[in-house]
Amino acid sequence: MPKIVNSWNDFDPLKHAIVGRADMSVIPPEEPATSEKVPVDSEMRGMWGPRPTETVEKANAQLDNYVKVLEKHGVKVDRPTPLQWNQEIKTPDFRTESGMTQMPPRDILLTIGNEIIASANSFRCRYFEYLAYWPLMNEYFENDPEFKWTQAPRPRLTDKSYKHNYYDEKISLEERLERTANKDFVTTEVEPMWDAADVMRMGKDLFIQHGLTTNRKAMEWFKRYYPDLRVHSVNFPGDPYPIHIDATFVPLRPGLIINNPHRPLPVEQRKIFEANDWQIVEAAKPAHDNPPPLCYSSVWLSMNCLVLDHKTVIVEESEVYQAEQMDKLGMNVIPVPFRDAYAFGGGLHCATADVYREGSMEDYFPNQVEDPTRV
Ligand code: NVA
Repeated sequence: MPKIVNSWNDFDPLKHAIVGRADMSVIPPEEPATSEKVPVDSEMRGMWGPRPTETVEKANAQLDNYVKVLEKHGVKVDRPTPLQWNQEIKTPDFRTESGMTQMPPRDILLTIGNEIIASANSFRCRYFEYLAYWPLMNEYFENDPEFKWTQAPRPRLTDKSYKHNYYDEKISLEERLERTANKDFVTTEVEPMWDAADVMRMGKDLFIQHGLTTNRKAMEWFKRYYPDLRVHSVNFPGDPYPIHIDATFVPLRPGLIINNPHRPLPVEQRKIFEANDWQIVEAAKPAHDNPPPLCYSSVWLSMNCLVLDHKTVIVEESEVYQAEQMDKLGMNVIPVPFRDAYAFGGGLHCATADVYREGSMEDYFPNQVEDPTRV
């Protein structure tokens, strides 16, 4: 029987991926984890309910087109099975009025070698999002005898998982930045919580963003679960809402990363990259001043690209500065329109999860120096 699942990084040749769908998407109501994350001046505050049908249709049209482009470039694509997200979620520990979506598989599924792990998300509304991917996981399980189908320990998400009164309407942006620089986030350390999109995979090394959606206990869990890998905790003090690493620190090929210039990796955390001749380049500025309506993400989705191989990258069609920079960095750029899908869960990288990339576990950081990121 064939090998179906294999991926160790974000840049080796991509052969098989999952692309999300916008169907049934809901803007979830506020809850302890999210009220802290919706910016005070965002139009998303206080709004919840099913997303307007015409926006779902537009997003799906761009997602379907994205699938065609991937298939044209030799990538097999699978799609999740939508669920009715507009229904109550209830466990013995909490209840919330709705789920969210199955547009961004990257937040939920983490592929490491022949294993796909469903994450331990901190949003209550995302508690059952993995179900949309379970039919695919079952299919891989039946057809690939080496595939490891894993669910991370499920967080209980009681009120103890969040700091209360963390969010204060009067807090200034400077104060918020100070908090995140001090690694003072809304999530507590009572249990491991993590979003898959906070994990940057680099063969033997995992660089995990410590932020609003991923805590330190999750890093400790990764360290014990993968004793043969090296786990690093990175943080980006310039980000007032640090969720997901893929609009902040994005590898393009071995030795090259683009870093959001508003969210630079602190100097002491760069040592491991410098000692191994990795180049960290400031990403180009976004082409837009604002995200599209009803979008959770920042304009830095400009960086949220999908690398197809060491020389080929998919960039959002209107992000001309980012495309130009990629070109100068020696990449062939494939432009794909995607802004209509942004509001549903992010950009081109968010909307995919790896099933198969060529290659195996490499050690990109053989020079081990004193490294403050090491967990
Ligand atoms: N929190 C990130 C989203 C990354 C996909 C941003 O808005 O920049």
